[in-house]
Amino acid sequence: IDQPNVITCKAMVAWEAGKDLVMEEVEVSPPQPQEIRVKVICTSLCRTDITAWESQAIFPRIFGHEASGIVESVGEGVTEFVKGDHVLTVFTGECKTCKHCESKKSNMCQVLGLERRGVMHSDQGTRFSVKGKPVYHYCAVSSFSEYTVVHSGCAVKVSQQAPLEKICLLSCGVAAGLGAAWNVADISKGSIVVIFGLGTVGLAVAQGAKLRGASQIIGVDINPEKYEKVAAKCFGVTDFLNPNEYNEPIQQVIKRISGGGADYSFECIGNTGMVTTALQSCCDGWGLTVTLGVPKTNPEIASHYSAFLSGKTLKGSLFGGWKPKSDLPSLVNKYMNREIQVDEFITHNLPFEDINKAFTLMREGKCLRCVIHM
Ligand code: APR
Ligand code: ZN
Repeated sequence: IDQPNVITCKAMVAWEAGKDLVMEEVEVSPPQPQEIRVKVICTSLCRTDITAWESQAIFPRIFGHEASGIVESVGEGVTEFVKGDHVLTVFTGECKTCKHCESKKSNMCQVLGLERRGVMHSDQGTRFSVKGKPVYHYCAVSSFSEYTVVHSGCAVKVSQQAPLEKICLLSCGVAAGLGAAWNVADISKGSIVVIFGLGTVGLAVAQGAKLRGASQIIGVDINPEKYEKVAAKCFGVTDFLNPNEYNEPIQQVIKRISGGGADYSFECIGNTGMVTTALQSCCDGWGLTVTLGVPKTNPEIASHYSAFLSGKTLKGSLFGGWKPKSDLPSLVNKYMNREIQVDEFITHNLPFEDINKAFTLMREGKCLRCVIHM
């Protein structure tokens, strides 16, 4: 049998919080039992990578979690993948055997769930090093590297026909937004929907709402370009509100134009203050607020109990409620059948060595998704 060796390749290493990534020669160890080593083909930059790079303390680290690639080698015991399979990486895995994986109600795998310490699930170790010094992972994916090692439960085999440079967006942001609209909120036809934050996540919620036949989709963003560029044209946003253009609280404006509040509101910014605003923008009785954002600061959510006394619900979710292995292949097929749009979210394409430009574009609000080609 071919025993995989250590691979030396290029990776963009973050040495310090908020400092430019540096291209380094890294050693990538062979996949351990139940792991696979993946040649990353494309990775798109997601806001959560930036949030973690700015605010977390685990360094040196290889970020990146929204990615597509090709299996290069498999570790002991892996039967699901062979060399050459096309995969999407996922930041929250599916072991298929834990209580949550067995339940229809949850995608919160207890074995391969969100990894926060920068190591692999199986042995709390890392598979990267630079000149002998260990480099930490991010969300057990670390796609800002030509090769990476992931647990076989954190990768999803997809159709060889699907273009890897597009479907990488289904590995996180676009899938998360669609899932929030369909699985978590389960938006019904004719509904009024309000979305806070028109980045990729918020616009994917809009697309999901449109496909469910929502009658009014109100988009809220402080960046006026978001609307003109894409929101209305591609993703079905019917009304655009910029809170900076009003002298009254935006929830009051929303209540007025929606006849008493939206049926569903979505927080897609990562600002817990906006969760409160989103809750206040919903109607009494059945109003539902779904949170998708990941806050950088002030993680506590404040709300008056009367919101709940009047029948509103606040619901959290991770990855739009999708079970990655069970559900992602069919989402990829929907894209192939032109039932969902993905290409429209890609505003920029950049070569790997220019990854820092993607960080700048996103921080300046100039892009939706920037796809990095390895
Ligand atoms: N009010 C309204 N809109 C805002 C505000 C605000 N106070 N602050 C920021 N925004 C808008 C930005 O202008 C931007 O259009 O929110 C949008 C966020 O979009 P992106 O930065 O492109 O982020 P995205 O990748 O869509 O992720 C959104 O979901 O997964 C999480 O960590 C992620 O918290 C982030 C959120
Ligand atoms: Zn599980």
